[in-house]
This record gives sequence, C-alpha cells and structure tokens, in this order.
Amino acid sequence: MAKEKSIKEIEDLPGIGPTTAEKLKEAGYTTLEKIAVSSPHELAELSGMNVESAKKAIEAARQSTTIDFSTGTQVYENRKALGRVTTNAKELDELLGGGVEAKSITEAYGKFGSGKTQLGFQLAVNAQMPLGKGGLDGRVLFIDTEGTFRPERIEQIAKAAEMDPQAALDNILVVRAENTEQQILTIERADKAIRDNNIKMIIVDSMMALFRSEFLGRGALGERQQKLNAHIHKLQSLADTYNLAVYFTNQVMDNPGILFGDPTTPVGGNIIAHAATTRLYLRKSKEEKRIVRLVDSPSQPEGEAVIKITQNGIRD
Ligand code: GTP
Ligand code: MG
Repeated sequence: MAKEKSIKEIEDLPGIGPTTAEKLKEAGYTTLEKIAVSSPHELAELSGMNVESAKKAIEAARQSTTIDFSTGTQVYENRKALGRVTTNAKELDELLGGGVEAKSITEAYGKFGSGKTQLGFQLAVNAQMPLGKGGLDGRVLFIDTEGTFRPERIEQIAKAAEMDPQAALDNILVVRAENTEQQILTIERADKAIRDNNIKMIIVDSMMALFRSEFLGRGALGERQQKLNAHIHKLQSLADTYNLAVYFTNQVMDNPGILFGDPTTPVGGNIIAHAATTRLYLRKSKEEKRIVRLVDSPSQPEGEAVIKITQNGIRD
C-alpha cells in the first residue's frame, strides 16, 4: 500500500490546492467532516474541480475522519451550554426552555398582525446582548421579503432595553429580498458575511411570501418545494457551522380538511413542517395580548404563553 500522507486539513486532500481550498472555505466547507459528507457534484461545482477529482477528495476525507462519539452526559452538557436569545417575555422564554436556541431553527406562524414580525424585531435587538445576558453577543442578518422592516421600531425597542439605538441598528444587516432568487442567494452566499460580521442570528421575515407568489399552481409545486428544501438545508447548515440562531416567520391558510378545532395551518407543506426544530403558533387575544403556542419541540412540552406587544417591544 502506498504510504499515506496524514490528512489534517482540507488542503491536505488530493487535488485540493490553496485556491480550491479557499473557494471551499468561502462556501462553508471548512472541515474534513463537511467534505466527507458532501456529494461529488456539489463539491465539483463549488470548487471548479472535476467530478472524478471531487470523488477522490471526498473518499480521502472519509478515510481520514473518525466518528466522534459523545456520551449522553456530554450531549447534555453541550446542550446546556448552547446560547439562547431571550424573547423579553418570561413566560415565553420558559416555554422555550430559556429562549430561542442557537444552532437551531425556530419558526413563528400565525395570521396577519399576530406579532411574528414584532417578535423578530425584539430578537434582532436581544441577540446583540452579551452571552449569559439573554443574547449571543453578535450581529443579526435580517432578510426582509415583505418590506416590513421598521428601523424606528428597532430604535424604540433598543432604547427601552437601554441600548444605544444607533449601535443596535448598525448591528442589524438588512437585506430586502424582492424575489426568491435574491432570498436564496443571500443565504447561499452568507458564509463570508457571517464570519466577517460576527453574525449570530438570521431572521427571515417571511419565509414563504415570495415562494408563494412566484410558484403558482400545482405544476410549480414540485420545483418550489425543491428550491425551498435546499434553502432550508443551507440555513440549518449555517446554524450548525456558526453556532447561530435562525428565526423565520410563516404565513397561514385555513385548512378545510380540518373539521374540528382550529383550521389554521402554516403554509409550506412538509419541507417547512420539518424545517423548524421549534414551531410557535401566534394568535391574537385581547388588545395588545397575543397567545403563543409551542407546537413542536424536541425537548419542551407543548404549552402556551401570553405575551404583550407594547411600545417598548415584547413583554409579559
Ligand atoms: P403579517 O406580517 O401581516 O402576517 O403580521 P405579523 O404577524 O408580522 O404582525 P406584526 O408583528 O407586524 O404585528 C403587528 C401588530 O403589532 C400591530 O397590529 C400592533 O398591534 C402591534 N404593534 C406594532 N407596532 C407597534 C408599536 O409601536 N406599539 C405597539 N403597542 N404595538 C405595535
Ligand atoms: Mg410581518
């Protein structure tokens, strides 16, 4: 057998020189593990190498990586150490097990005016707070697909939190996406921006609005779901790679198939249903009150919390 050079970094893989390595890192393929689980076609497309060489590089990456086992206790310790962003409402934070979790995707769905965007604004401010103080000590990437980002609201919420409103606004990088292409590309190419700007939270408000208006009719559904799937997959991978929190909002429709109970269903089908680790259903109550229901969570029991949308932001 040929003598093997020990492979420690992606530059050590066969066929991957400094330029190719740089391209791959830009695209978020920063570790041997990431290469090991990639497909030859995606690797070839990203790096410009041919599919045969990509196959060899992947094979070498697989040989060189070992499976790291963690004990249940270690997993538990790691989970406790995960950053969380406070919602500013105690009851809701408790429902969420301490706030919106980093390394994971949280969805808020509900009718118009239910508070999805307002909760997003509050999180965009709170994510900037120090670790252990309800924040992730980082900046926020805010993808606005509906043109409803309101800097004046951020100012109000930041002032109420005793933060410098100017700094709070400077720490939110807003992308106004006009079509799904822009929405997808922003996330597709976010790696560098995330690293350069210390982004610790991504907000997509709303996830489905553009997809719904662009892909009309049954014929377009397959293509829509395929694009959506890749988009969500990339979001999850950013969350994992950079230890950041993802919050997205979603619209609802009335499901006529439901005869009893609340017929309100989030849009986006199975892809979206499986995308979020945590799903929140927001609905209006009296005046400024909103009821938030935890619909789907791997660790927390289902339940409800009441929040208020006030001048100062989200409160108990
Ligand atoms: P869609 O995007 O239309 O689906 O709705 P949404 O769920 O994003 O609703 P949003 O978060 O925009 O909530 C709108 C509601 O928040 C309004 O109806 C107001 O009740 C409340 N709200 C917005 N701004 C303020 C404010 O400055 N002060 C107070 N007290 N309430 C506000
Ligand atoms: Mg909204």
